Amino acid sequence: MKPAPYPAKLHSLPSNISSIPIEKRRIIFDLIQQHDLRDCLEAGFANGVSSIVIASATKGSLLTFDHPVAQHNTPSIEQLIEQFGQTNITPQYCADYAWEFGKLVKQGRTFDFIFIDASHLFLNTVAGIALADRLLRRNGYLVLDDISWIPTVSSPITFEEVRKYNGYVNEEEWRSAPVGEAFDCLLKNSRQYRCDQRERMAVCQKLSSRFLV
Ligand SMILES: C[S@@+](CC[C@H](N)C(=O)[O-])C[C@H]1O[C@@H](n2cnc3c(N)ncnc32)[C@H](O)[C@@H]1O
Repeated sequence: MKPAPYPAKLHSLPSNISSIPIEKRRIIFDLIQQHDLRDCLEAGFANGVSSIVIASATKGSLLTFDHPVAQHNTPSIEQLIEQFGQTNITPQYCADYAWEFGKLVKQGRTFDFIFIDASHLFLNTVAGIALADRLLRRNGYLVLDDISWIPTVSSPITFEEVRKYNGYVNEEEWRSAPVGEAFDCLLKNSRQYRCDQRERMAVCQKLSSRFLV
């Protein structure tokens, strides 16, 4: 079956907020459509823009996590869900998405598509990738946003804010690309994943289930 084109209604999603830009939205939409990815999981919904894109693309559903601070965003994810009629999204507020991923692992849950666009720090991302690997089905896709994001160059948030929400971060990490470092260490050369880089995102297909060997 031919994948559906990027829907016109998604052009009215807000663009002047902290969300992935249109090029990335299209890549994610096409990937989900093309491979008919149904059980979707997301870390970091913020206002819910990427969530609406994922949920519009899939014939299944999306479970998505963010900090309670996201409740005060304008628009909120709940408002976008209502505006776009995307009732296949379940947003959950939590202290840390990796902890929630751990619970899903213990429940035996599995997914076809996982998008990580949350803390952007090394330790969080390493934990997120390791747990996402346990949650991802064979042939499923893990997408990491901002693999070339360097906090000191492009961060709208301060060192203090990052420490408040994410705990430990070191000075050297703050000057490097932490998501990219985690990607390089765990996924880039893994024989269990086929990865390519598109618009500063890592798009990784899981080929087999034995991680890190
Ligand atoms: C760049 S924004 C996400 C943007 C969204 N994916 C989009 O494109 O529309 C990153 C979000 O991650 C959340 N976040 C950061 N660290 C987190 C953590 N450890 N657990 C859960 N959410 C986290 C922040 O509150 C923020 O809303």
